[in-house]
Amino acid sequence: MQEQQASRLLSRYIKHYESKTKRSKQLFEHASSIIPSGTSHNIRYFEPYPFFARMASGKYIYDVDGNAYTDYWMGHWSLILGHSPKVVVDVLRERSVEGTIFGTVNEHVLRLAELISKLMPRGEMLRFTNTGSEATMYAVRLARAYTGKRMIAKMEGGWHGFNTDLMHSVNYPFHMPEGKGILEEELRYVVALPFNDIHGSISILDMVRDDLACIIVEPLLGGAGCIPGDRDYLHALQEYARKSGALFILDEIVTGFRLSLHGAQHIYSLDPDLFTLGKIVGGGLPIGVVCGLKEVMRLADARGKTKGDWVSIGGGTYSENPLSMSAGVAVLEYLTRNPYIYSRLEMLGDEARRSIDKVMNEHGIRVKSTGIGSLFLTHFLKHGVEDVRSARDVAMCSIEMQRLYHFALLSMYDIFFLPNKLGAISIEHDNIDIRRLIDASERIASDIAFS
Ligand SMILES: Cc1ncc(COP(=O)(O)O)c(C=O)c1O
Repeated sequence: MQEQQASRLLSRYIKHYESKTKRSKQLFEHASSIIPSGTSHNIRYFEPYPFFARMASGKYIYDVDGNAYTDYWMGHWSLILGHSPKVVVDVLRERSVEGTIFGTVNEHVLRLAELISKLMPRGEMLRFTNTGSEATMYAVRLARAYTGKRMIAKMEGGWHGFNTDLMHSVNYPFHMPEGKGILEEELRYVVALPFNDIHGSISILDMVRDDLACIIVEPLLGGAGCIPGDRDYLHALQEYARKSGALFILDEIVTGFRLSLHGAQHIYSLDPDLFTLGKIVGGGLPIGVVCGLKEVMRLADARGKTKGDWVSIGGGTYSENPLSMSAGVAVLEYLTRNPYIYSRLEMLGDEARRSIDKVMNEHGIRVKSTGIGSLFLTHFLKHGVEDVRSARDVAMCSIEMQRLYHFALLSMYDIFFLPNKLGAISIEHDNIDIRRLIDASERIASDIAFS
């Protein structure tokens, strides 16, 4: 489609969006005057402005203008049980009157730790943080401490949160800095590998092998485009880490309890030395967890040691707060009682991937929906791009068409994907929702094809 046609179509969608989100527009203008870009998380901004949420329940998110959207963003993919599930609301109601932060040890922490460790046995020990960014920061710190080496290998497009060590090669073009304020020197000990490319990755790893502390990888590249790792590729990375004396770290902040009750590590038969969790494990409240083998995690035990002999990881004022811990327990217990939900979510995900591609392709629009289980994202293939297997491939697809598609879903059909981000299906979604999504995609495809 010509750029001019796309922009004409976008103007139509924007006009419609603006007509139904007037209050959001006013609020966003005000927000922009006191919060840079109007939000504390840049990805939440999209043009012309994001709607202001008022409340959310089940699969719906409601805005201040009275619109109800079927939500596939689902709180940054945290809400596998949908918004405000009863099991979480009930426990929070009870807990919140008992205290929101104790600032000391409590049994809710132990309960969640035991559950995680039981469901993911590579997590022999673990520590809680408030965010996923902290968990990955601590995981690489632990790896450096354990190995006595400096280099971190991550993926091109790999997103592990805002910590300095890992804010490297996240967005295309990968050789450019991610932003100001991060010094080149700070990234001297980080290399980026081409995802799903064994030979390309090994040739880079060979250059840093002697000083390699860890390889950190998302089993499914999330923020970079919902791209599943190949089994062989992930195993090759694990094996390389083993042979070179480095640690293998799996970032399961998106995939943990999302792809299976036992994580992607179970699906892929991987044995990470360390892994990180977040999102689902907090039941919709702030959390991060760094987990791993005892011999590594024990380095965090400061008892009886003198300064400099332990690794400072974990914690923060709100870490182990009884609300996040109890919400996490409620969700994990629910998932444990209902393990069949995963096959149902996968069926819905498969249907979305297959049928969106079908209706788009029937209108002559070349797309490829990627993902596994309940996670999916539709990429618009440019001339010469046949498949989407890495963040580089994603960069070669049409980001503009993807944005147009997601924005059209929001504006014209009340279906919310954060533009350019993957969608997540929760147990609240059903066949009818997926059918509506496919029908809407077909109508958008027809708009595009005839514009
Ligand atoms: C794979 C992965 N790791 C880490 C993070 C950072 O987690 P948080 O946003 O809780 O800091 C994210 C966030 O989206 C993520 O997707």
